[in-house]
Amino acid sequence: HSAVFILAIESSCDDTAAAVLKNDKVLSNVVANQLIHNQYGGVVPELASRAHQQNIVPVIDAALKKANINKDQLSAIAFTQGPGLMGSLLVGSSFAKSMALALNIPLIAVNHMQAHILAHFIEEEGFDKPSFPFLALTISGGHTQIVKVNDFFDMEIIGETTDDAVGEAFDKSAKILGLPYPGGPLVDKYAQLGNPKAFAFTKPKVPGLDFSFSGLKTAILYFIQKKMIENPNFIEENLNDICASIQHTIIEILMDKLKLAVATTGIKQIAIGGGVSANSGIRKTLKEAEQKYGWNTHIPKFEYTTDNAAMIGIVGYQKFLIANFETSNVVSKARIQF
Ligand code: KG4
Ligand code: ZN
Repeated sequence: HSAVFILAIESSCDDTAAAVLKNDKVLSNVVANQLIHNQYGGVVPELASRAHQQNIVPVIDAALKKANINKDQLSAIAFTQGPGLMGSLLVGSSFAKSMALALNIPLIAVNHMQAHILAHFIEEEGFDKPSFPFLALTISGGHTQIVKVNDFFDMEIIGETTDDAVGEAFDKSAKILGLPYPGGPLVDKYAQLGNPKAFAFTKPKVPGLDFSFSGLKTAILYFIQKKMIENPNFIEENLNDICASIQHTIIEILMDKLKLAVATTGIKQIAIGGGVSANSGIRKTLKEAEQKYGWNTHIPKFEYTTDNAAMIGIVGYQKFLIANFETSNVVSKARIQF
């Protein structure tokens, strides 16, 4: 058998990314972040599609060069079909279709959320792959789900957010504190210097395995407003403790549901994915859960947590092996489950 070379393209939100894989190994993984949105406090869809148009050719060129691969060696092109912003998805899918057509090689459509989960199957030294079945906690700026993963393409959502995603909870809390967008990584940074028990925020009461984060955001807003009346310097004097307390509450909410999911399914193998799994507190808590609860936890390499094309490539490789190809009529989908 000769090696399979996949070029993968990810353009679902505000990052333009391309990767080249040789079988399940990543040869290159290039991301162009769009900093333009920071000044607006969130992703502006029209600006995102424009930036994808500017970035896509250089990013793909860079991925091929870094992998030291000629485009004629490619076995297939994989792209993100959805979910995501329609204008952003269209840039990646149109490019992928044209390139597959020009090279006369198969086209593979990939579900972004499946890719966050299957990123664990990238061959990486020092990381073991999960075995089926396992529970995946996908936490990003757009999603918060607990997924029962029975096989590569057999997944069931057993819990999800009823309102904000956990990344939004981080970003909106950060905004209340006057931190720039996206605030998640900054909350994480300050939290590492603060006392997680300094302030208490009530956790939402949501039945079963579902989540809710909008109440927490409101609780934080009222708390800050009240404290600022008493002391206008409250935020700057307590930033580390506030961030640590917010992060602690969010982690407790996630852990309560994970524990319930383990109790309900009997599955003790846990994998996390999505941008928020870069959070140092979440990574530490999950690592500790191995000893504390006897779980087997899988925490991806940093560069495979936030949006990237390597995760699209590994799904592309799995689909290549079963010849799950698309015709060029395939359409992008802003909303898809699995
Ligand atoms: O998966 P991702 O890159 O894009 C989406 O598909 O949404 O996730 C982005 C989200 C943002 O909300 C960002 O603030 C959050 O992940 N994030 C973090 C951290 N790094 C990224 N949240 C908390 N702590 C972090 N270290
Ligand atoms: Zn994502």
